Amino acid sequence: MPLPLTDRFGRVHDYLRISVTDQCNLRCLYCMPEEGLEFMEKSRLLTADEMRSIVAAAAKLGIRKIRITGGEPLVRKDIVEIVEAVASAPGIEDVSLTTNGLLLASKAEALKKAGLRRVNISLDTLDPAKFVMIARRGDLAKVTEGIRAAAEAGFSPIKLNCVLLKGINESEIADFLRMSHEKPLHVRFIEYMPIGHADEGWRSLYLPLTKVLEVAGGMPWAFERIPDVKGNGPSEDWRFEGAAGSFGLIHPISDRFCENCNRLRLTADGYLKPCLYWVDELYLKPYVGDEEALTDIFYKAMAIKPLNHEMASKLSGEVQTHVPTNRRMSQIGG
Ligand code: GTP
Ligand code: 5AD
Ligand code: SF4
Repeated sequence: MPLPLTDRFGRVHDYLRISVTDQCNLRCLYCMPEEGLEFMEKSRLLTADEMRSIVAAAAKLGIRKIRITGGEPLVRKDIVEIVEAVASAPGIEDVSLTTNGLLLASKAEALKKAGLRRVNISLDTLDPAKFVMIARRGDLAKVTEGIRAAAEAGFSPIKLNCVLLKGINESEIADFLRMSHEKPLHVRFIEYMPIGHADEGWRSLYLPLTKVLEVAGGMPWAFERIPDVKGNGPSEDWRFEGAAGSFGLIHPISDRFCENCNRLRLTADGYLKPCLYWVDELYLKPYVGDEEALTDIFYKAMAIKPLNHEMASKLSGEVQTHVPTNRRMSQIGG
């Protein structure tokens, strides 16, 4: 058995996030510029078979959990085939997907059959007009339909991702918290991260999640920390007394969680990223089919993985110790 993927700081990696496209049917203001980006040429994207081969090699090194991301993964015509390819690799125990939900109603059943276990759905507002302001297109009703279809198809747990934006959806924290009490949904509040951009726009919209605990304290129910709701990511989970669901906090900036990092990322054009934040990438695509070469690249990613990101110093104006990525979130997958 080859050695598990352990970095210089002793962190064992068993989680791979695979971005399957940089395209998206929305333009969320925290993720992609309004005019879009130059999208990757189709011919440069990994195919389902190439992903199968990479995941098979990674599984031999201890990768057990896969999350499919984008852009928006459901815009890939072969998404069901991709899920099937990844889920059938020996050693893979959990395959999940992060989506904006727009196309979920039509695909939930087929994805479930293909071996997908869980879905996380982005939902930043419960107000249809605000939805269009944040996402710059699309329709909140379609997302709501997607959430319902996911439940009907038997996905569990269903998590909602809400990126908090100061002065935009801040006023809805109480509504989202109430939702976590009433419905079997797991609402996760996320701090707005400066990935591929760290301008005034970001600084003025960033809101630390301490705000969520303040609002929770004013709700009519007591709340407590709970063990993580089935998942592999950085969320710190809480529940109100008597609640059907829970709420989670993902706070990379106000309270960095890198010491528990267990994940690597694969971009849609076939680069392995040791860390979400920094520029470093290793080009994997040319080595598909050569398991020994792929194995070497995974170990190399462990050798160069940094201890942590430096998003907070983008707030304070401190000098960065290394070069941040120039990819936007839609080109990495979160
Ligand atoms: P679970 O398996 O359900 O725990 O999924 P997850 O929370 O890992 O995945 P999801 O795609 O839903 O991500 C939720 C948020 O966490 C997104 O905003 C991601 O960008 C963020 N996130 C995930 N991993 C990391 C990480 O390593 N570092 C930072 N800074 N943010 C992360
Ligand atoms: N900061 C925090 N979260 C982000 N996401 C996309 N861009 C950002 C950002 N700049 C979230 C999406 C999705 C997940 C993959 O990452 O809302 O739920
Ligand atoms: Fe890991 Fe980098 Fe995310 Fe920190 S920012 S948790 S080191 S991937």
